[in-house]
Amino acid sequence: MQTKISYSSLMQERVSCRSFTDEPLSPLHWKALQSFIDAPRELPFGSRTRFTLIDKNPEDHSPEARDTAAGSRGGARLGTYGVIRGARTFIAGMTVSDGDDQALEDYGYAFEQVVLFAESLGLGTCWLGGTFNRGGFAEAAALAHGEIIPCITPVGYPLGKRSLIERVMRTAARSSKRKPWNELFFTKNFNHPIQKDTVGDIEEALRMVQIAPSASNKQPWRIVFDPGSSAFHFYMHTLAGYAGNKLGFKIQRIDMGIAMFHFAQTAVQAGFTGTWSRKDPGVFIPHFPNGQVSYFATWHPDNSGSIGEA
Ligand SMILES: Cc1cc2nc3c(=O)[nH]c(=O)nc-3n(C[C@H](O)[C@H](O)[C@H](O)COP(=O)(O)O)c2cc1C
Repeated sequence: MQTKISYSSLMQERVSCRSFTDEPLSPLHWKALQSFIDAPRELPFGSRTRFTLIDKNPEDHSPEARDTAAGSRGGARLGTYGVIRGARTFIAGMTVSDGDDQALEDYGYAFEQVVLFAESLGLGTCWLGGTFNRGGFAEAAALAHGEIIPCITPVGYPLGKRSLIERVMRTAARSSKRKPWNELFFTKNFNHPIQKDTVGDIEEALRMVQIAPSASNKQPWRIVFDPGSSAFHFYMHTLAGYAGNKLGFKIQRIDMGIAMFHFAQTAVQAGFTGTWSRKDPGVFIPHFPNGQVSYFATWHPDNSGSIGEA
């Protein structure tokens, strides 16, 4: 099911939606989401994630949907501090993590698939890692021992008009902008930005990393391409003092997982399958202002034939 979706067009269409009509999800959409979130998925580091649909008013749904919806009558505790308007259904994602491990990258990798699948159904979503009542959602999702609930997303029909708070948030995070290519992607080491047209068809995968969503739109991903082995080494620019990393888990690790999914999935569509590993190649990391850059993971193509030959 997952490979049939044209993810790169969805990656380009997706934009955070914070204003929804208050219509309940149609039974068809509910069923499609339910089966997608329940499907087993392979994640780069083999962690476990679990998703659940939560509805503020499960009693408004068909008996089948009512059976699967977690929820709290009236939705009193399913708040988003006023950031999300009109949504009545949410997807909560759970994982087992100490807050600073690879389960968070796997989590971002898996949850972005869910977000893009919702996009394929024409539904609006917005990653939320900070602005939601974690306790209320944890209760509705029946958090198991050891699980954490790093993020949720509302899911529903976009209103088509942004609320004032949504416009303010987008302006504050400069959500419509992304960092330029030469600040993100390098060849051999951090001194040489990757020249466009030098990595063949896989350039599209880098472009999809560049447009990925990230917490507060901080875009922590940095990638160094090694022309010798055709490997792409992923690094994270952790911002000093960033509040998003002090929620009991490092939210920027989730951003890295999202970028990894955008990269690997687009590479597959360009004809390159690959494998993730974690072995620091020892590339010299210069001083970066406002934080530090650290090695994260490496993507190796299974067949490196045409990478770097253009
Ligand atoms: C892991 C993660 C956590 C996020 N947390 C929040 C949040 O708590 N509240 C919010 O309004 N937006 C949140 N966002 C949305 C980002 O602000 C948004 O993705 C970014 O500004 C880029 O805008 P776009 O999604 O429209 O492309 C989060 C995004 C990610 C990836």
